[in-house]
Amino acid sequence: MCLEAISISKTYNILNKRIKVLKSINLKVEEGEIVAIVGPSGAGKSTLLNILSTVDRPDKGIIYHLGVKIIQDEDWKALWRREHTGIIFQQFQLIPTLTVLENVILPMYLARKFKGHRKERALSLLRRVGLEEKAFMYPSELSGGEQQRVAIARALANDPELIFADEPVSNLDVETRLKIANLFKELSEEGKCIVLTTHEEEMKKIAHKICALRGGVLRC
Ligand SMILES: Nc1ncnc2c1ncn2[C@@H]1O[C@H](COP(=O)(O)OP(=O)(O)OP(=O)(O)O)[C@@H](O)[C@H]1O
Ligand SMILES: [Mg+2]
Repeated sequence: MCLEAISISKTYNILNKRIKVLKSINLKVEEGEIVAIVGPSGAGKSTLLNILSTVDRPDKGIIYHLGVKIIQDEDWKALWRREHTGIIFQQFQLIPTLTVLENVILPMYLARKFKGHRKERALSLLRRVGLEEKAFMYPSELSGGEQQRVAIARALANDPELIFADEPVSNLDVETRLKIANLFKELSEEGKCIVLTTHEEEMKKIAHKICALRGGVLRC
């Protein structure tokens, strides 16, 4: 099992009211599986994804990644994420002072992986998302869809077993959405576990399991 989340709950204080965004959510993701989380805006998809990827912490609940129980300690989690996960954030979170190429190289540098051929690997990932020719530009010089594809290439830099993608094709045209959907399909065929949120049909089509989040409850 790639990922198992047991009884995940999260409450936010919104306008002095305590709103239960996630109510005791369970989810299992097998090796090579793509799980798509769908649901209306504000349903809690990003909240759930951030908790599953260990970026955020639940109020209650337990998560196992690759059979290892996630410890809610920030340093431990940062190391764990770097070793095992690739994360595509809804707002991309690219580093503005680094070029596209440097953004993709950075995770390899931090994890001390692929030494000696980081540049070639980054360029090949950028080619996979159709952006090789923009390698030496800065994020601010790219369109939203191009930035989104850099975020995808960066998430794949360390060849992670677990991929978390928050609306990874939301800024892309139909043709590019299909290209990225195909890339995710190939990754799942390589045995990667993918949890993504989406509103787009192209992504729902490649998912092995679709889970709907509504009223704080997840139904798969
Ligand atoms: N840090 C926070 N503090 C307070 N409330 C929050 C916080 N983060 C999220 N929320 C609230 O939790 C709810 C779910 O937000 P979330 O971003 O998870 O929704 P979403 O399903 O990803 O929406 P979208 O499709 O628009 O991306 C929203 O009502 C939001 O206001
Ligand atoms: Mg969201």
